[in-house]
Amino acid sequence: YQTQAAFPDGFLWGASTSAYQVEGSWDSDGKGPSVVDMLTHPAGKADFTVASDHYQRMESDVALFAQLGLKAYRFSIAWSRVIPDGDGNVNQEGLNFYRRLVDTLCAHGIEPIVTLYHFDLPWALEQKGGWLNRHTIDAFVRYADVLFLALGNKVRFWLTINEQNTMILHPGAIGTPPGRELPDKKSLYQQSHHMLVAQAQVMQRCHQRLPEAKIGPAINTTSMYAATCRPEDAIAAHNWETLRCWSFLDVAVHGRYNALALRYLQDRGLAPQMLPQDTAQLAAARPDFVAINYYSTATIAASRGDASDVAPRAGDQQIMLGEPGVYRPEENPYTAKTPYGWVIDPVGLRLTLRKVCERYGLPVMITENGIGAPDTLAADGTVDDGYRIDFLRQHIEQIQLALADGVEVIGYFPWSAIDVVSTHQGYAKRYGFIYVNRHEQTLNDLRRIPKRSFYWYQQVIASNGHQL
Ligand code: BG6
Repeated sequence: YQTQAAFPDGFLWGASTSAYQVEGSWDSDGKGPSVVDMLTHPAGKADFTVASDHYQRMESDVALFAQLGLKAYRFSIAWSRVIPDGDGNVNQEGLNFYRRLVDTLCAHGIEPIVTLYHFDLPWALEQKGGWLNRHTIDAFVRYADVLFLALGNKVRFWLTINEQNTMILHPGAIGTPPGRELPDKKSLYQQSHHMLVAQAQVMQRCHQRLPEAKIGPAINTTSMYAATCRPEDAIAAHNWETLRCWSFLDVAVHGRYNALALRYLQDRGLAPQMLPQDTAQLAAARPDFVAINYYSTATIAASRGDASDVAPRAGDQQIMLGEPGVYRPEENPYTAKTPYGWVIDPVGLRLTLRKVCERYGLPVMITENGIGAPDTLAADGTVDDGYRIDFLRQHIEQIQLALADGVEVIGYFPWSAIDVVSTHQGYAKRYGFIYVNRHEQTLNDLRRIPKRSFYWYQQVIASNGHQL
């Protein structure tokens, strides 16, 4: 099990972004506000109004992606740019931006990979109850239809909803609009059910409208280690892995709720209300591949059943609290951490890929993986992010091992193609191959500067993964 396989021909070497984190121009050309535009931000943290100014610099950014050698680029479409109030008229100017983006990518030979929805629900829909209101299901299906019709002749790969599990399990991760409280768990799981039904309908619609296209869910997926070989720790690790990852993917792929997860919801009075037609709709949809966003693993022990299960641990900035009776997080002495406290675990990626393959038997696309850290523009105009090269190299090596294990990995999309506003830490924490010359509150000239990792990834792609 130590032999690496070569990357197949046609492997989608890519990189990722999302609309609200990169575009800026949050109210230009008829765009409506989304929930992320309404957030309040911690003092000093960048907001999303300008972001990386990609909306204004799209052509030159794509030219840089072509220079990087990208075979594919994963981006999301801002729903409220295309349909400003989420369910009303189509804003042609907004749609035209994405037509131009897709055309520009295709002109450079870069495959567009489109995420329909990445955290930025139109604010007008949120005011009508957001995902708690079944009306949002219909609005999402109609919005997807508009995109299938407008872009379906050029876009072959679609992703439904980015990290539904993050939105449901960590609702505070993206922030809360002023005056709003975080929804309770019961309504979060009801929202989740509506997202699952919407996703199923959209996958079915995609197959009907675009028989050549491929579509899949994009869940933040990882593996949980038991803290010791104590059987109760193994059960706790399995509990959390199921609730956090498989419960979402099982519905998307198998079309039915995971039994263990449903039992968890029923025992706590959290089970969503389902309409009779929902079961058939969930069952009728099938994704063509599974997309995973992978950053790190977690280590889990049996719950102690007291407040210590849910106490934040010193220095741990990842949202990782336990749940009495279910599991508690522990430190992993065998893995390192990023400057922001995220566990670095390349081997965990191989393990997760094996599990996804074994469970679903579908091709896997890695739609996010990366390291967020401060980057500095040196006086000589360069950005040396050698630590990012090490991180990505180690993960790519593990993908090669997973390929040899028999996992059909079809693409790799590091987060992120270019610096974006990090959801939690703005521009203090960067992910891109391309540095954007701005800081939290100072926009500077927003100049693009390829980092050292840019030139390294260029050679990785050019050699189809041989030169790491
Ligand atoms: C993923 C999201 O969960 O994590 C991205 O899909 C996000 O939108 C990324 O940027 C990294 O998280 P953060 O908080 O460091 O930006």
